[in-house]
Formats: sequence, C-alpha cells, structure tokens
Amino acid sequence: MTGAVAVRDRLAADVRRDLGRPRKQLQPRYLYDALGSRLFEAICALPEYRITRAEQRLLAAHAGAIGAGLAGPVTIVELGAGSGEKLAQIVEPLMEARVPVRVELVDVSATALDLAALTLSRWPDLPVTGHRTTYEDGIERVAARRRGEGAVLAAFLGSNIGNLDPAESRAFVGAVRSGLRRGDRFLLGTDLVKPEAELELAYDDPLGVTAAFNLNVLARLNRELGADFDLDAFAHRAVWNAAASRMEMHLESLRAQTVEIPGAGFSVDFSEGESIWTESSYKYETESVRELGAAAGLAVTRQWVDERDRFALTTFEPREFAP
Ligand code: AVI
Repeated sequence: MTGAVAVRDRLAADVRRDLGRPRKQLQPRYLYDALGSRLFEAICALPEYRITRAEQRLLAAHAGAIGAGLAGPVTIVELGAGSGEKLAQIVEPLMEARVPVRVELVDVSATALDLAALTLSRWPDLPVTGHRTTYEDGIERVAARRRGEGAVLAAFLGSNIGNLDPAESRAFVGAVRSGLRRGDRFLLGTDLVKPEAELELAYDDPLGVTAAFNLNVLARLNRELGADFDLDAFAHRAVWNAAASRMEMHLESLRAQTVEIPGAGFSVDFSEGESIWTESSYKYETESVRELGAAAGLAVTRQWVDERDRFALTTFEPREFAP
C-alpha cells in the first residue's frame, strides 16, 4: 500500500467512525492539509489571534536562556514544525555561541515540514531532519536515532498542547518525558485563560479566516473522499466552554440534510442546528502547566509570562525519579 493510499484509508476510517458517533466530530489534525496549513499561517497573522506574536515576543526576550547551559551537540526536536520561525529564534543564540546544533522536525503535515526546513535553510550547515509522523512516533524515532553525548531540547510551541484533551496531554507529556534524559530540557508554549470576548474574537475573526480554516475540513472531505458537503449549508461556530477551560470550534448544519461520502462508503444525516465538533483549544493557568509537567516527572526550571496577551513559555527538566 502506498503512503497516499494508507493516509486516505485512515482518513476514511476515522471519518466513518467520528461522523457516525451520536456527538459528531472530526479529528483536529484533519484541518491541516496543504490549504488548511496555509490558512492556519494566515490565522497567525490576524490581529485578533495573539498567540503567535505573544510567543515570539517571549522567545525574542528569552531565547538565550532557553538553550543556555545545554551540553552540545544540542539536538532540538520541534514537535509540530509550524513555519520554523520560532525554532529559528531558539537556534540563533546557540549558533552564535558556536554550539553544534542539529534539528529534528516532527509534523503530520508535509507542508509544515517543508516550510520549516526552508526557514532553517538560512543556516546552510545546520543539519535538519523531517519526520512526517505523529508526535509520539516522532519522539520514539528521535530517541532511537540518539547517539552519544549532547542534550536534547524538545519544544512544543504555539499552544499546540491546547489541541489535546486532558488525557491526551498527560499521555503526550509522559511520552516526551520518557524520551528525555538527565541534562535534557522541554520547552512548552501554552495559551492562558483570558476574557471570553477576547477568546471568541481570536477563534471567530471578522475577516472569516478561521471560518475558512474550519470549513476547509469539509472541502477536504469533498476533495479526498468525493463527499458532497455543501459549504454554504454549514456555519463556523466558536464557543468558550468555561467548565472545561477550552475554546471549541464547531461546524453547524444550517438545515436538515444528508451528505454522501463515497470514499468512506457511507452517508450521514444532519438535523438543523446539529454540529460537528472539529477542535478544542484548552487554555491553561501557570499553575496547571506546572502540574501537567509534575504529573509526568518534569520539574519547571523557568516560566515566562506575557501578561499583555496571557501566554506562557515554560522550561522543564526531568526529575531524577519519575513518579
Ligand atoms: C494550532 N493550534 C494551537 C491553534 C489553536 O489556537 O488551537 C489552531 C487554531 N484553531 C483555530 N485557530 C487556530
């Protein structure tokens, strides 16, 4: 089976299962095809979506401290490659200090891997390896490739942790911890709870970029599985769920309708007002970030908070003995 066929079969199986649930949903990773990844880049430039700029400000102010004291050669592992710009901010002070560095990028999106590799090509001698796979598999692959001395700096930026539910985020941080040794470091970027109106604007911008990003997942099912979703018959909704401390994105069916999805071998009925839950973005408090690490055997070494946009960057180190 070729890679492309395996990916489509997996998509078909996931769609059949998740749209067949009583509470319809789609996995957030399916938002990121080539077009979705570009739409997400556009979201990061929106004035209402402040995560990216807040994190870049913190990185600009503290990049030196983030990599300081790590034994070279340093392997920087970015889980969720993004555009590579943030990684470049971390790489720069290490390169200036002439610490040997290599980079391992882990992302399910080929577009993101290519973009990040292109950004890092400004250092022609910097070895960059891309792994087009899930985070957990990427962590295992990087650990298996590890040779000899030198520290690992694992980075999970952009509040990507926010797209994992509590059980998934605990499992993810546990997997990161198991790939780290003494002397390694984990850098985590988390968006913090902020006023509801600000959160709703960030996830439902007036230009409609986030709506296009969300609706693109239906367009993707049309393109890749031959589905007949009428995009005008679904509306983007962004809702703050205070009890769960998360923003939720939904696609609401504007009328009763049946959608055929031949590539997944089934059809799906929607009632008017019924929605597909496409993504959650969990918002943290500084203390809950600390607790997340502690539960996996990671101790906070530094934490920087951008008070203007309520965003935190935290570094952890493995505790001597995991709990
Ligand atoms: C990638 N991730 C951290 C973004 C977020 O904020 O949850 C994805 C996103 N969804 C809507 N806007 C941005």
